[in-house]
Amino acid sequence: MPRQVHLGHVFHLTGTPLVTDAASALVSIPDGALVIDDDGRIVFCGARGDIPADYRSAAVSDHRPGFLLPGFVDTHVHFPQTYAGDSYGGGQLLEWLTMCMYPSESRYAGAVFAQRAAVEYCNRRVAAGTTAAMVFGSAFPHAQDALFSETQRRGLRIVSGRGIQTTGPDAAAPLITSEDDAIRLVREEIDKWHAADTGDVKTALLHVAVVPRFSLAVTTQTLKALGELYDSVRDRGVYFHSHLNENNRPGTGEVDETKEAYRVNSYLDTYDGKFLPGSTVGGSSLLGRRSIMAHSVHCQDAELSRMAETGTSVSHCPVSQQFLGSGTMPWLRTVASGVNIAAGTDFGGGDEWLIPQVLGAAFKVHISEPGAAGVSMHPAELLFLGTLGGARALDMEDRFGNFDVGKEADFVVVDPRRTPALEASLTYGVRSADPVMAHDQTLFGLLMGIRETSIAETYVRGRRLAATPE
Ligand code: GUN
Ligand code: ZN
Repeated sequence: MPRQVHLGHVFHLTGTPLVTDAASALVSIPDGALVIDDDGRIVFCGARGDIPADYRSAAVSDHRPGFLLPGFVDTHVHFPQTYAGDSYGGGQLLEWLTMCMYPSESRYAGAVFAQRAAVEYCNRRVAAGTTAAMVFGSAFPHAQDALFSETQRRGLRIVSGRGIQTTGPDAAAPLITSEDDAIRLVREEIDKWHAADTGDVKTALLHVAVVPRFSLAVTTQTLKALGELYDSVRDRGVYFHSHLNENNRPGTGEVDETKEAYRVNSYLDTYDGKFLPGSTVGGSSLLGRRSIMAHSVHCQDAELSRMAETGTSVSHCPVSQQFLGSGTMPWLRTVASGVNIAAGTDFGGGDEWLIPQVLGAAFKVHISEPGAAGVSMHPAELLFLGTLGGARALDMEDRFGNFDVGKEADFVVVDPRRTPALEASLTYGVRSADPVMAHDQTLFGLLMGIRETSIAETYVRGRRLAATPE
């Protein structure tokens, strides 16, 4: 790929800030340029007028008056729920799973259906500018093959693993396997797809995760075997992903049911090797720098600090939490624990594919928290959740997530002219005389106002991705 110059208003977070330092890491370059080298790496990010002479002969893509943002990272999204957003089941998490999701996911048993879903799923990701994602996979190996193949063909980044279930209600029967098959299928998926595109986990776009659906969908025997398996593949850079502390509806909530089923002190203990009664150790921990726990709405302080200590990340999914009535993750308390937090759509638990819509929901739910817990998030914190924090959660912050020189060029072009309401607010909205406040206002307006129509182009490693299969 020849060297490329992209022009537009650049926003990104430079360096390796914590979410609490995001505001001071925010870079805004209104007349900005990104220069990308032959191998898809960023060699320059700065003002257009400062492009080094060596690069001035490169081909120019002029996206002005558009914006250049790091590609969005979705740290929790369900491939087998591609057609199941907005499903109505008349209940919260556990009823919704039984009435809507298990039947929807069972349809992926059909190979043609699963292939069609893989194409649709990749279409949605390119359209939403989601360049990297932790994808909760289908129970069916052929559906995972379709997902990885299509993802590779389209040039997206992915971490995914088949959803493991070894127990559950009748409605989940098509998704449940024996204990032995569960472990065998995970091993086969790792051997087949982990870094399959380049053969090297440091350069791969395709990665595999070990993904038990949640503790209620597996047994102590499964958790023990998964711990052994994970110990044996950690050094290959394999990931771990599941749900944690999502719904605590009194009487029928997932949190209480899990603690009662396992007779443990905390839900996290079940993933931390302490899944026997009284939180006694029964196997290896599944936590670590390549582990992401979705939701984590109702965590005890000890759970948050254990995740922080092990480098485990939280995938924050406020659109889903509203859709399923799961409550609000306490923002200040979660941040104070030091755990890394990133954004997730949780589609189809959430009804939105677009990470900026998740960021908008985060702003709205956290400003609405009661009393002193209510907080007006800084737009740089929102950008962190949707970009750099996601790259960190995937343990690939050294590769993408911002526009620092040397990173792989994952970015989106946002063209406000494609969304009249966004264009109007960016053009006529009040801006402060203080330049820092003014660019904060512009970034906030942008993140709140982006819709799928606004995403004009999506790039991974400097390569523009086709909106539909070529
Ligand atoms: N917990 C277990 N399975 C699921 C699922 O499919 N979606 C959500 N949101 N939570 C879960
Ligand atoms: Zn989920």
